[in-house]
Parts: sequence; structure tokens; C-alpha cells
Amino acid sequence: MSKVTAKAPANIAFIKYWGKKDEALRLPLNSSLSMNLSHVFTLTTVDFLSDLAEDEIEMGGEKLVGEEAERIIEHLERVRKLASIKLKAKVKTKNNFPKGTGIASSASGFAALTLASTKAAGLNLSEKKLSILARLGSGSACRSIPDGFVEWLKGNSHQTSYAHSLYPPDYWDLVDIIAVVTKKGKKVSSAEGHGRAESSLFLSARVRAMGAKVRLLKKTFKEKNFTKLGEIIEEETLNMHAVMMTSKPSIIYWLPKTIQLMLAIRQWRQEGLESYFTIDAGATVHIICLKKDAGKIKEKVLRLRGIDRVIVNYPASGAKLVKSYLF
Ligand code: DP6
Repeated sequence: MSKVTAKAPANIAFIKYWGKKDEALRLPLNSSLSMNLSHVFTLTTVDFLSDLAEDEIEMGGEKLVGEEAERIIEHLERVRKLASIKLKAKVKTKNNFPKGTGIASSASGFAALTLASTKAAGLNLSEKKLSILARLGSGSACRSIPDGFVEWLKGNSHQTSYAHSLYPPDYWDLVDIIAVVTKKGKKVSSAEGHGRAESSLFLSARVRAMGAKVRLLKKTFKEKNFTKLGEIIEEETLNMHAVMMTSKPSIIYWLPKTIQLMLAIRQWRQEGLESYFTIDAGATVHIICLKKDAGKIKEKVLRLRGIDRVIVNYPASGAKLVKSYLF
């Protein structure tokens, strides 16, 4: 047993995971594709200690209790079972970005926890096994394990549903400019939202078209066709949010600023500045552009009033061990 720290990126999905085939195993209804992000990440230190009566979890300097803590403890249980140990763990974790706003904190969080806790427990899992394990903590976390541009294969069983790298981070100079429009966390968690997907009449149409959409996006990546990529990701965003909005009960993650940004992005395109929006489960807008245009677009975003924070991201590696400790 030893103290271990891992760093894992959040990721932005170009083709999204919304709705589960198997709730407990977090098997998704469709495969998804994402890019790991360089400037939004979680750092987590884990140590299994003999003098602890229960797991101690601290997030952002505060002791974590309730449902969030339970979800982490469940994950530690999975690791203890795999490593055949009984020791309780001390866990300290921090994000460098606001939680629950549509930047995938559960993705970076469970990816970092998976890598740090398995290593701390003396396990040496392959990337595939880490991705499978991370998926049980949070579906999107399995995509934060491999490097760069990643595909999560939906699979049809626990062992066949995992993420793998399609291309390394330096394959394509895409940029994700995150425009955070509110500091407040969302009211409906994505874990809860997934459960409502089935109640939308639009879900079956969405799922039916997914195989072809994934194939098309992969082709677009191969050809590095940015305009085509943009068209696909905007359609995909509106498609997923249509399912969210028509669920029972309905979920509207957008705020007025979200829509203002979506329309501004389309206006800038008409003026010759090419970028596209994508939005996860929150009000935050991710603006996808090429590196050559990132400076100009960032300036334009900052000129709009009421944007809380702008974070510029490049494609990044997946979860990694680091040498510093949080305790
Ligand atoms: C809209 O991975 O957060 O960001 O498996 O319940 O933890 P759980 O859900 P989560 O869902 C992410 C939903 C999304 C789309 C995506 O990242 O693919």
C-alpha cells in the first residue's frame, strides 16, 4: 500500500451519452466520442491506511458527506474487492473548475479516483480495465482514461463497454473554449437525467440514428473535415437536449446566456469566423474551433456581458499519475 496521486482531465463529448441500457453497470444506449481537455481537471490523492475506521473523503478542502461521498465509497469498495483488501482509505480531491455546471466533473473525478485508488491498493490495471472500472463510477469517466480523442464503445456487457483512444492529442489542433455562464450547479444531476431519457418520445429516434452518426463522425475525424465536424456536433447537442426537454419531468439545462451564445456563434460563422457549440448537462457552452481562430473567438466571448468565466482547452492526455500529494 502506498499514497498515490492521479490527475485526470474532464472531457467534452462530440457524440453524447444520454440514457443507459443497464443502470447498475452504466452500459450506455450508444457509443460516444469525446476530446480530453487540457485546462479542466481533477487531482486526487488516495491512501489505504490501517488506522482508519471508515473512508475519509475531502473535496476542495471540505469533508464530503451524503450521496456524493456514498458514490465514492462504493467505488472504493469495488477497488477493495479487486485487490482483496479491507483497509479504509483517505481520499483528498480537488477540481480546478466549478462543479455541476456542464463541465464533466464526474468524468475527471472518477477517472482520477480509479487510477489513484487502484495504484494505491497495489493493482496495476491495463488502460482497458481502468476504463471499465471508471465507467462503473460515472459513465463519462471511462473516456477520461485514454489519451486525446476517445471513443467509448457501448458494448453489450461489463467487459465489452470501455473507451479507447482514436487519436493522440496532437492529431488535430481543435480548441474547446468553455464559456461558463453561471456559478450555480444544475438542479438535475446527469445521473438522474439519464433515468428520465426513456420517458421522451424522441429517445427511440435518437438511438436509432446513433450508429450512423458515430460512423460519420469517425470519418470526419479521419478526413479532418472541421465544417462537417461542427455540423454534426451542433445537431447532436440539439438532439440530446430535445430528449432532455421532452422527458417527463422535463429538464431544461439552458439559461438565457446559453442561447445567446449559441446564436452569437452562428452569427460569427455568417461573418466568416468558424466555430460550433456543444453543450453537456448544464448551461455552460463549449465552443469548438480551430487553434488559429481561438484568440479572436475568446475576445468575442469576453465582450458579451454576463459570462462568468472563459477557459481555453486544447486536446489532452488521459488520466496520469503525478508526483505531488494533496496530503
Ligand atoms: C450530457 O457520465 O455524468 O455529459 O454515468 O450517471 O455519471 P453518469 O452520467 P455522466 O453523463 C454525462 C452526460 C453528458 C454527455 C456525455 O458526456 O457524453
